[in-house]
Formats: sequence, C-alpha cells, structure tokens
Amino acid sequence: ALVYILNGPNLNMLGVRETSVYGTLDLAGIEKLARARAAQLGMTVEFRQTNHEGVLLDWVHEAYHKGAAGLIINPGALTHTSIALHDAIKAVSLPVIELHLSNVFARESFRHHSWVSPAAKGVICGFGPKGYELALEALASSVSA
Ligand code: DQA
Repeated sequence: ALVYILNGPNLNMLGVRETSVYGTLDLAGIEKLARARAAQLGMTVEFRQTNHEGVLLDWVHEAYHKGAAGLIINPGALTHTSIALHDAIKAVSLPVIELHLSNVFARESFRHHSWVSPAAKGVICGFGPKGYELALEALASSVSA
C-alpha cells in the first residue's frame, strides 16, 4: 500500500527549532524511522515537507490521484488556521491521520483547535517522532494492503 506522509510549515527546522518542545531529531531522522516502520508493514512511503499551504493542498489531491491507501499529515500551524486544508481532506476519500509531535492540548490555547481533526480519521499527538510509527501502524490496521 502507498502512504503519503506530509509535513507542513517549519517542520524542516526540526532539530534546531524549539528543541525542548520538539526534540533534537531532524526531519531526515524522522523520515528514516518512518521508512523503516513502513517497510516492516509492507507500505511504500511518499515523505514530503513544505512551508506553503497551497503546495500541501496539491499534495493531498495528488495522494488521491495516485491511489494512496492513506495519508498521514503533520500540518504544523496550518492545523489551527487552514479551512482550505480541512476542505482538501474532505474532498479526497482517504483515511487521514492527523499527527503532532507535541501534545498540542498541553500547550497554548490557540493550539487546542484543529480544522483538520473533524476531517481526519484519527489524531495522534504528544509522542514525538514515535508518532510517525504509531500513525503508520494505525493506517496499517485500518487499511487493507
Ligand atoms: C505541531 C504542533 C503545531 O501547533 C505547531 O504549529 C507545529 C508543530 C507538532 O508537530 O507538534 O508547527 O504540529
């Protein structure tokens, strides 16, 4: 099964960015973890990051057109602002798992609302890079290979 793992704004800065919140592993390290777990689960991964909202929307659409079995998305701050991302996820009939490294509910109140959650199959947050592996496992058990 083909799975898209999409990362939004500022996640290219992992390893440098607020390390007390996000840890010291960079996105390349997370990609390695995710690819290893995906391989064990028999999944093929398309792993990407962009700082641009429109690009993220295009990739959600692309996942649908390429026949992906599911989508894991860490939308960064677009989680809290983007109705367009909500609509894009609604537009594609794919199981979508919303993912955050940090526990957004233990942080500032502006992070407590997500436009993505109502359109997602489920949400994983607070487990750091391990969340990417957990999300793959969640997809594997809800999606047939
Ligand atoms: C994040 C949480 C968001 O609130 C924040 O804007 C991010 C990262 C996370 O992975 O914990 O950029 O999505």
